[in-house]
Order: sequence, then structure tokens, then C-alpha cells
Amino acid sequence: MAERLLTFSIFRYNPATPEIPPRMQEFQLDETPNMTLFIALNRLREEQDPSLMFDFVCRAAVCGSCGMLINGRPGLACKTLTQDLPDRITLMPLPVFKLVGDLSVDTGVWFRQLNENLEAWIHTDKEFDPRSPEERMDNTLAQEIYEAERCIECGSCIAACATANMRADFLGAAGLNRIARFLIDPRDERSPYQIFEVVGTDEGVFGCIGLMACDDICPVEIPLQQQLALVRRKMAWAGLTGK
Ligand code: SF4
Ligand code: FES
Repeated sequence: MAERLLTFSIFRYNPATPEIPPRMQEFQLDETPNMTLFIALNRLREEQDPSLMFDFVCRAAVCGSCGMLINGRPGLACKTLTQDLPDRITLMPLPVFKLVGDLSVDTGVWFRQLNENLEAWIHTDKEFDPRSPEERMDNTLAQEIYEAERCIECGSCIAACATANMRADFLGAAGLNRIARFLIDPRDERSPYQIFEVVGTDEGVFGCIGLMACDDICPVEIPLQQQLALVRRKMAWAGLTGK
């Protein structure tokens, strides 16, 4: 592969210095084999500008912290190879989330609020007995719950969502996927109608306008369209029957 000289156009703004307006800054970097955007950004910070802000923890598409707009499309920087991108690469922070600085956004506050709003924990009256044997669960059902649990809270589906970009209170695909997880878990004793009272609104399941960008974008390939259809079906029935 012939070595390329890549041009990066990167959004720069530090809310701590509001007197310096937001701008795009260009950097150039020689491409190396199997270079990810994680490697490229670290080299830019080490070799050219130590003030460049971006987030990484795992470097392996597990922690979800490196989400950013890569040539306009949300994605994980640690999972994106520069060889799959053109010579000119534009990097912007994910919209919707609070900007920390440059490419770094605070998805944690957003997801914490989401989990509190959804009461995203098992609701049960059973007392926990540490000496009792583990409850068995059907393998297929456990797999379905695990499928929804795979969300790494990267925020890509939220950033790609037209509704979430227009209304800050929309749960988005990540929120509806989280609800699907509790709807199918028999240990959660909430009735579908109790969940309907939380998500049966325009900020919840009925706010989706069906563009399904989330489904194309999810880096861990959770079938978000399928999860949304499940929640919609169950919520429509709960709304009609009051059960
Ligand atoms: S559902 Fe997928 S795209 Fe959305 S936050 Fe979770 S991992 Fe990221
Ligand atoms: S650094 Fe953890 S997902 Fe990219």
C-alpha cells in the first residue's frame, strides 16, 4: 500500500476559554499500516498539539468512550481504520451530548439521566437471599437479554437520530433498547402498563420517526430496529388494554 499523507480537519473549541471561538484546525500526518483513528489522534497529540482533547479508554470497541463524527457519520475512533477513509478526514464531536472540549463529549451524564428516568433496574418484591441457588433461566431468553445488554453506551445512535437532535428529552434507540431488556426479563415484576406510563409518550417510544439511522450506525450491531418494534408492539398493547 502506497503511503498516504492524511489531512485531518478537526473541530476545536474549549468551553473553558469561550473567548476563542469554535474553529476547524488542519493537521497532516503520514499514514502507517493498520492505523486507527485512535493511533492517529494520539500521534497528533504527541507530535503536533498536546492540547487536543478526545476520549479513549479501552481501544477495543468495548468502553464506548471514543464516539465521534467521522466524515459526518457517528462511529468509534478506535475501531475505524484510516485505510477505509479518504485522504481528507473531518472529525467533529458527537452532537446532542455536552461538549467537554474538541472531540470529547460527556455521554455519562446523558446515560445516567436516561437510566434514572427509565428506572433501569430489576423491580422485584423478592428479598435477596445470598444462600439460595441461582435462579435458572431459559438459554434462549438469556441470550435475548444479553443481546440488549451489549450496548456500550457510545452515543452513536443518539447522535445519528433526527428526533434526538431536535428534542433533548427523547430516549433514543439506546433508551428503547434498554427498555426492551427489562420488558423481556421475567425477574422484573413491572407490568408492561407500568413501563408504558414511563415510555408511552412522544419523548419515548412514540417519538421515533422511523428513519432508522441508529440501526445502520450501532458499532456493536445491536438489532435496534427489531428492539424498537418489540417495544412499540408491547407498549401499544399495554396502552390499549391498560395491563
Ligand atoms: S445502542 Fe449501539 S449505537 Fe446506541 S449507544 Fe448502544 S452501542 Fe452505541
Ligand atoms: S476506546 Fe473504548 S470504545 Fe473506543
